[in-house]
Amino acid sequence: MTLARQRAHPLRPAMMCPMLRFDDAWIWDSWSFDDGTRHHLYYLQAPRMPQGNMRHDKARIGHAVSEDLRSWDVLGETFGPAGTGAFDDLATWTGSVISAGDGSYRLFYTAISTAGHGLRDQRLGMASSTDLHTWTGRSTAPIAAPDRRWYKTLADYPDVATAGPDVDTVSETWRDPYAVRDPKGDGWHLLVTARAAGAERNDDGVVAHLHSPDLETWTVLPPLSSPGTGFGQLEVLQTRELDGRWVLVFTCHPQEMTPERVARGGEFCTWSVPCEGPLGPFDIDAARPFAADPTLFAAPLVQQRDGTWAILGFHNLEDRGGESFEICDPVPVTLDDEGYLVARAEEGQPLSSRVRHRPVGHRFGGMSGSDDASAWWRKAVMYQVYLRSFADGNGDGEGDLPGLRARLPYLADLGVDGLWISPWFPSPMADGGYDVSDFRGIHPMFGTLEDADAVLRESRALGLRVIIDLVPNHTSDQHPWFLAALAAEPGSPVRDRYFFRDGRGPDGDEPPNNWISAFGGSAWARVTEPHGRPGQWYLHLFAPEQPDLNWTDPTVLDDFDDVLRFWFDRGVDGLRIDAAPAMAKKAGLPDADYGGVLQFRTVDWDDNPHWDVEQVHDIFRRWRAIADTYDGDRAFVAEAVVSTPERLAKYLRPDEMHTAFNFPYLKGPWDAETLREVIDATLASFEPVGVPSTWVLTSHDEIRPVTRYGRPTTSSFFITDGEGEVSDLALGTRRARAAAMLMLALPGGAYIYQGEELGLPNVDDLPDEVLQDPMFLRSGGAIRGRDGCRVPLPWSGAVPPFGFSPDGVQPWLPQPECWSALTVEAESSDEGSMLSLYRAALRLRRSTEGLHAAPLAWRESPSGVLDFDRGTLLRCVVNLSQQPVEFTVADVLLTSAPLAGGRLPVDAAAWLRPQAE
Ligand code: NOJ
Repeated sequence: MTLARQRAHPLRPAMMCPMLRFDDAWIWDSWSFDDGTRHHLYYLQAPRMPQGNMRHDKARIGHAVSEDLRSWDVLGETFGPAGTGAFDDLATWTGSVISAGDGSYRLFYTAISTAGHGLRDQRLGMASSTDLHTWTGRSTAPIAAPDRRWYKTLADYPDVATAGPDVDTVSETWRDPYAVRDPKGDGWHLLVTARAAGAERNDDGVVAHLHSPDLETWTVLPPLSSPGTGFGQLEVLQTRELDGRWVLVFTCHPQEMTPERVARGGEFCTWSVPCEGPLGPFDIDAARPFAADPTLFAAPLVQQRDGTWAILGFHNLEDRGGESFEICDPVPVTLDDEGYLVARAEEGQPLSSRVRHRPVGHRFGGMSGSDDASAWWRKAVMYQVYLRSFADGNGDGEGDLPGLRARLPYLADLGVDGLWISPWFPSPMADGGYDVSDFRGIHPMFGTLEDADAVLRESRALGLRVIIDLVPNHTSDQHPWFLAALAAEPGSPVRDRYFFRDGRGPDGDEPPNNWISAFGGSAWARVTEPHGRPGQWYLHLFAPEQPDLNWTDPTVLDDFDDVLRFWFDRGVDGLRIDAAPAMAKKAGLPDADYGGVLQFRTVDWDDNPHWDVEQVHDIFRRWRAIADTYDGDRAFVAEAVVSTPERLAKYLRPDEMHTAFNFPYLKGPWDAETLREVIDATLASFEPVGVPSTWVLTSHDEIRPVTRYGRPTTSSFFITDGEGEVSDLALGTRRARAAAMLMLALPGGAYIYQGEELGLPNVDDLPDEVLQDPMFLRSGGAIRGRDGCRVPLPWSGAVPPFGFSPDGVQPWLPQPECWSALTVEAESSDEGSMLSLYRAALRLRRSTEGLHAAPLAWRESPSGVLDFDRGTLLRCVVNLSQQPVEFTVADVLLTSAPLAGGRLPVDAAAWLRPQAE
């Protein structure tokens, strides 16, 4: 085949068409329509945010026309009244245009509410036009009823007639609608990407098929593909009858490119698959790549005037800052003997020789991960502030925001990059503030919103990022929503924000299912109805004072969108999402199979109806879309204890959370092999999704490392692990020092829990009467719970309250008398202290330029010794064996214990320059 030389023709520059702003927009999905005289090209354009994502809420449809597919006239933005391009409340994904046969045209599009309902709030829209440029009816004539719910089933749409038994095989999400007139005159076909009904994976897409005789009423026909291909988001569906054969053309997200697929087609790849006979099922598994090129990804298939077929694509003009595009000349495609599309630029030349590739990491087709390798959350060391125990500014024995403000310089000096502040909202404190009664306020015990603003402002001035703790799985039982639900009758919509259910058993006096609470006992509590008798039950996966929210209720979704904005608007850099895997529950709330372990051990549960249920990811995608509308790299960190690193990695896909706490690392024992396995597994599962790992030793929920590592049981899978065992605190401290150096030498981010840097032990002998943890209370005292790691910090002086509160004030939990050597003051002047070690390690880490991006490579090492390089910048050796390790003393940067005759002692770590052998 001889093809004409391919040349790129720029679309008209911004100067000639100021509305188009082609020079500062990011272009992605596009589609075309041929009215018989001219080709119309429609393309989505939106400003791009610093981290590379689109501003979906600012998306516009651009419109250009051409007679020869080579030179284009840009008509400007289309869609809104008089071509204003204004979407009322809608953004869109790819659409398609067809002729209605009566001189008018229809535009089908996926509507995404930008009123805060997120990318997953999608529906089909249909608009009409007589000039192909100005469209009406866009938000009033959707095929599917406007609704803020997502993942409705087709049966939920009253306007869509359903036919055949297969209707149940399709449910939402609607995406990339492609309409085509039946060439035999049998009405119109509409193909949309939909999720298979019952599919566990949201991205397990099928090609749904609707048919209409008149463009008014639609019938759902059996899908044109089977679920389970793993090609989830078949984007930019197009189907045409070419030379008498139907061919389906699609692109899909680069994330779905398994190594096998990449080998077949490349990461940016357009696929085709024919079907035999009339429009019928396509075997997606049999699809073949035909255009493996980013420029031709998500590009329309067009028929040229001579009857031949071609695809169009966009160049990204990198020399203009990567924000400008020009359109490619059409790349001819033909059908091979088996009915697959074949594309070539020039004889014998790969397409890529002709087009320029987008900057590495940019992805087409809509959402993309942050491509900014320098985003702060990729490498930050965050310091967890458990406010109530950090510093008391007003002398009432409880830590607060004024106390934190006064100590911010301490944190800046420590060398951390930011803070994570545990819940600061109004709360009855039934679970240390994780029972929130107002998500937009500050607990009076901690201060005011003005105090919070001051903390944000002053932290920023000190170069510290601030993330706050959001607790979305549940509210307090004193939250106005729950009080309203209690006051309402069973069946009232206000009860739908929670899980109210009738009980089992003849009198309904048994819980609705067998689910257990994280804090022990049943996860259900029975209410007294307004009439005064026992009635329904409500779900609480944690304490009864923490009723679980129902995240399929639109009012919950909407309100939390607003909560996110409330805090982002105030300037927080990110949100830590508490109990993230709990937020979706399997429909019908079926009994769980706990495999006989009647403790809340999420790591054991692979398939559970109330933990890590697939639909949680929809919520995070919705939230990510909101975060991405803000500048400044706002980030989410998930608290997600799930069964495997692979499952954790799902929370970190490019359109979900940014990072997650690494619980397997936190919980494992002090054992070289286990640590190495966790490190390897973490890196292996995070790398493919392109996110940084985080490393963490402890938190306000865990046994403090000094105590834990000094016990015979050094793991901490459950809070009771090692409980009651005597801890050798000297041994624990040695190991905790080595553990800190190991953690801070690993690639990615890290979390330090307040007091960890002082080497505080757990306070295991708090008197029962001061314990407040619901675990202690709900277990009838059998489990002591987490108060022992929440004892207020010692700042200075020789006796309690050690500068935490003014002298003479008793802090809310008593501090041990023996902490005088562990105060910030005492440790600051002791070069051998834990604090000095943390300071030195954090300084070194920060001053070693490029360290965050340096890969980890293991060295050969004796059994029980961890030894790795971080590129050429740092070598870390940790001795968990039973005997000292020999090594060269030259170029030692830092050690956790003095070297003994050039040997690294047992339970010690060293940082070296890598060349030192
Ligand atoms: C995890 C928090 O870290 C913990 O303190 C809390 O009890 C539970 N989530 C429930 O919110």
